[in-house]
Amino acid sequence: MTQGGDWQQDLLHELADAQDSTPLPSSPDASGAIPGAPVQARTGAESSAESLPTAPPVPRPSHDPRVVAPAPESVPTIDPRLAIALGRPQHGDSIARRTSRSLRKLTASAGQEVAEQTRLAQEVQQPVTTGRIIAVTSIRGGVGKSTVSALLGRTFNHYRHDPVLTLEADAALGTLPVRMGAESVRWSCRDLAQILTPAMRLTDVTGYLVPVADGGWLLPAGQGRVGAPLDMRTYRTVTLALRRYFAVTVVDCETLPGEVARTAMDTAHARVVVAPMTAEGINGTRQVLDWLSQLPHSALATTVVALSANSPDTTLDATAAAAHLREPGVPVVVLPYDRHLAQGGPIHTAMLGQDTRTAAVRLAASAMQRAVRMR
Ligand SMILES: Nc1ncnc2c1ncn2[C@@H]1O[C@H](COP(=O)(O)OP(=O)(O)OP(=O)(O)O)[C@@H](O)[C@H]1O
Ligand SMILES: [Mg+2]
Repeated sequence: MTQGGDWQQDLLHELADAQDSTPLPSSPDASGAIPGAPVQARTGAESSAESLPTAPPVPRPSHDPRVVAPAPESVPTIDPRLAIALGRPQHGDSIARRTSRSLRKLTASAGQEVAEQTRLAQEVQQPVTTGRIIAVTSIRGGVGKSTVSALLGRTFNHYRHDPVLTLEADAALGTLPVRMGAESVRWSCRDLAQILTPAMRLTDVTGYLVPVADGGWLLPAGQGRVGAPLDMRTYRTVTLALRRYFAVTVVDCETLPGEVARTAMDTAHARVVVAPMTAEGINGTRQVLDWLSQLPHSALATTVVALSANSPDTTLDATAAAAHLREPGVPVVVLPYDRHLAQGGPIHTAMLGQDTRTAAVRLAASAMQRAVRMR
């Protein structure tokens, strides 16, 4: 794969080669592959990644110590006993709202909406010469990082035709796999840091990832158990290696000022800071923006704020809050309260409120605009 060249072209060649080549033997003894070699079932992906054949991993020399490392077991993301308690997903918009929206489609302003959506889609679809990393973080937990990461991952995947990865860099029992609809997880960032080699092809790598139902790929930080947190070195190894294969990687980071979150913020091509719609949350986020403005390479120029309303009872004036956050010179996208998102559990794109979908595309467009600026 060329560095900085037409890497998408390389990718297409690679895919064509993979389709032509005879599959390697799947027996670990014959192939030298890691025991329990990953051949993940794929679901209806819409991106170009959908048509990828799932190949066994690259054979390793028999002296490679990784050959004898046991493969991790597949672990359900939600205990099956609890899964029945999830309930039916509800739509982000009420029936009355959906009806009035259908009627509005017949009016003149609908044309303007379509024009705006087309413009945003073009921004999300911008070509990239090397893989772009977009890191999502916040100043405290539970404000919507994983939700925003899942929305961004799905949006990029919906609009782009090249492979998109959503990566979890928050080992504190993160919720990203559940939000992305993964039923089970197996290989984690830590495992991939040991496995990835420059000789691997996209088809080898995707065997270790979770295919997302709407398309795209997911790499969890862990297996949903309390364990050693992800470290900075593992994060750097994995993101650097995976950048070669994915046009866009959305990283769901831990909370600032954690070490991995700071590394991710510092090394990403664009940053999304999620701010909760509360006075104290906005105050703290403003301090993060002021900190970013002091970083050596003007990190503010590549930062976007997602102002997330996690409660229907918020009394804060969203316009004044957004204006306060915009002062240092960053764009702010308001993510409205959405009943479907508030429910927790897997995000079903079709169940999102219309304003939520528009906000997700706006956020993706804004982050992409900034990510392509960075070399
Ligand atoms: N736009 C929204 N509308 C309604 N509810 C939301 C919205 N965004 C997030 N939520 C709610 O907030 C909860 C926490 O969101 P999320 O798990 O994404 O936060 P987080 O910052 O990733 O948390 P953690 O720090 O624990 O990783 C969600 O389960 C959901 O109920
Ligand atoms: Mg999270």
